Amino acid sequence: MKHYIKVDEWNIIEEGFDPHLNKVSESLFSIGNGRMGQRANFEEAYSGESLPGNYVAGVYYPDKTRVGWWKNGYPEYFAKVLNAANWIGIDIRINDEVLDLHNCTVRNFRRVLNMKAGYLERSFTATLPSGKQLQVHTQRFCSIVDDEAGAIRYAITPINFDGQLTITPFIDGDVKNQDANYDEKFWEEVQREAMEGAAYLTMRTKKTGFEVCTGMRFQVYRDGLPSESPMLPVEAEKYVASRVVLSARSGEEIMILKYAANLSSENHAKDALKSACHQVVEQAFIKGFDQMLQEQAAAWAHKWEESDIVISGDAAAQQGIRFNIFQLHQTYTGEDARLNIGPKGFTGEKYGGAAYWDTEAYCIPFYLATADPQVARNLLLYRYRHLPKAIENAAKLGFTHGAALYPMVTMNGEECHNEWEITFEEIHRNGAIAFAIFNYIRYTGDALYLADHGLEVLIAVARFWAQRVNWSQDRERYVMLGVTGPNEYENNVNNNWYTNTMAAWCLEYALEALEQVQRQAPDKYMEVIMRTYFREQDEMAKWRHIISHMYYPADETLGVFLQQDGYLDKEQVLARDLDPAQRPLNQHWSWDRILRSCFIKQADVLQGLYFLEDRFDEETLRRNFDFYEPRTVHESSLSPCVHAILAAKLGDEQRAYEFYLRTSRLDLDDYNNDTEDGLHITSMAGTWMSVVEGFAGMRVRNGRLSFAPFLPAKWQSFAFKIRFRGALLKISVDKRGVQLVNRSDREINVTLYNGEFTLKGQSQVFVSSEGIKA
Ligand code: BGC
Repeated sequence: MKHYIKVDEWNIIEEGFDPHLNKVSESLFSIGNGRMGQRANFEEAYSGESLPGNYVAGVYYPDKTRVGWWKNGYPEYFAKVLNAANWIGIDIRINDEVLDLHNCTVRNFRRVLNMKAGYLERSFTATLPSGKQLQVHTQRFCSIVDDEAGAIRYAITPINFDGQLTITPFIDGDVKNQDANYDEKFWEEVQREAMEGAAYLTMRTKKTGFEVCTGMRFQVYRDGLPSESPMLPVEAEKYVASRVVLSARSGEEIMILKYAANLSSENHAKDALKSACHQVVEQAFIKGFDQMLQEQAAAWAHKWEESDIVISGDAAAQQGIRFNIFQLHQTYTGEDARLNIGPKGFTGEKYGGAAYWDTEAYCIPFYLATADPQVARNLLLYRYRHLPKAIENAAKLGFTHGAALYPMVTMNGEECHNEWEITFEEIHRNGAIAFAIFNYIRYTGDALYLADHGLEVLIAVARFWAQRVNWSQDRERYVMLGVTGPNEYENNVNNNWYTNTMAAWCLEYALEALEQVQRQAPDKYMEVIMRTYFREQDEMAKWRHIISHMYYPADETLGVFLQQDGYLDKEQVLARDLDPAQRPLNQHWSWDRILRSCFIKQADVLQGLYFLEDRFDEETLRRNFDFYEPRTVHESSLSPCVHAILAAKLGDEQRAYEFYLRTSRLDLDDYNNDTEDGLHITSMAGTWMSVVEGFAGMRVRNGRLSFAPFLPAKWQSFAFKIRFRGALLKISVDKRGVQLVNRSDREINVTLYNGEFTLKGQSQVFVSSEGIKA
């Protein structure tokens, strides 16, 4: 754990420069706009430890798979998000000395991520090895208004010298991914051009042929007026720049405004890429930094108005939740159905920036409640479009007749993952993809989605499960052998309760969907039946048989579901008995030791209870929670939120709050000692869920929203807004009670605790701790 980030409700603040924390801060202070994302690398040179990262959405490279022992069925490559050309670079030299904080004495260092207005700020005083001192103040952002553009203000003031200052704003395409499997560079140059005060560089990815044009234009100012010093074009391979040499005077501020853009061939024709980039850069230049920043602040204000969670009485919790919401918005805007949400978003290389089951299991609820339904729909459509590839993927593994296995990790629908215990065995991901369809329709009421897209996916997923189970003569039940559940600290187990449960649930839901579409849209039903060659009688009969004969491991004495066959053979010790020095286990124990232990990486049985809560009585939930939680080490960031929601449901407010804190400040406090690799973007949606589904107890049942809020003891109040079927509801919880305000004109029915209310447009209801007041 690290506690160097200052607590502040709207800002992430670092004071003092500690090079050992630099990579952690580079992740924490990342900026992005859904189209691109930039780690908080410095504009000027830095020769210390750093992970450079500028990522352009949808642009990836298929890095040839590297494994120790090749297994049939492995994908040939791992598609990874690419570190693209450096657009932020501004090289600074004083006489012949390079400004490089690694070689300087740094004082008054302060880095601030302003979440309210969406920009990053940094200031410091540096003493160069020669003794020259200068003061620097920078601001930058990726515009969410002009989403292909970014802008930088970089101001330098010499403190104790007059001298020659050489300023070189540049674009450098000679970048690499630190996780490249063969230390290969993924980009080749297409075109470059450097001019006076502007430059353009187009790079192409090897193999995939994506092109990205990065452009810049800048202006240098002395004491507020444009400098007249010449701006000399500089070019080298994969590098373009323009250099300005000035004689700087002590106390006089020199300011650079640099406007840049990253345009990808995913959004523009290749032959028009450079001219489009030129246009975006010029527009930014004409608009100017101040106006761009004002527009940025206004656009962020709008986002906050819709999705903020306001907590009073606990600044650390407030900062945590805002940080999570902020980073989610920076990662995914939902405007483009070709994009998805990588577990690290645009903040690091780990996980390749690709789509995981995290999106369906954790992110969908956040976007359903805080954005237009189209956003969640786009996430579903992403998988719908990948259905043919998911069918191919299953066929590769020997499945037939249109069965689909969605990839564990993907960019374009093809599987990228290459560890057999995950690629071939962590098949529960299919369940999350089906569940997301159910969740979307449950929330939005958009039943048409089923007929148009959902049913086809559900049929293909159901076919997979129907082939993946086998009949056990011995048990006279269907069993599922050789799987890995969500808890990746168990591999190749038989009858993982979660997987068996979700498989049967998928079959049930597919049957329900078939029946519903046949009733509501018979023509579309026939189209799907024909397109999928669906054998109505046989397939449905088989699915029904599996549903009624599925094997679910359980222990009668303890009254709990068993995570998998034989789980109780393991030595039953609890996480609290572990030596803290040995945690996280995955950084201290050998893999076989982890596999033999009873310790659980993340919610597994409990994940199933979370998804299908309404099917279980409270005592069953409680027994399983009490049994599994103490054995869970939460070494996946996705774990605490599920526990927070279940603890809240079971009335354990204190535990719910502890789990919440752990998810909400996971990165800010570097809980798992891995923030330097990038932020845990997908689990940030889980933090939101902890508040909304946990503390506020929000559920959707029979087309109606319900709430059962409690106020964490440390808080004075919390409030948030929810969109639901055209209505906008504000929920405020404080010590006096709960207030629901319908901020829209649309009437909405809600359940609050045990009371049912019809909230007309622009009306409200208040329920006090003692009872209903109005
Ligand atoms: C978790 C997976 C998750 C992946 C990406 C892993 O550590 O165990 O459930 O999909 O991280 O977030």
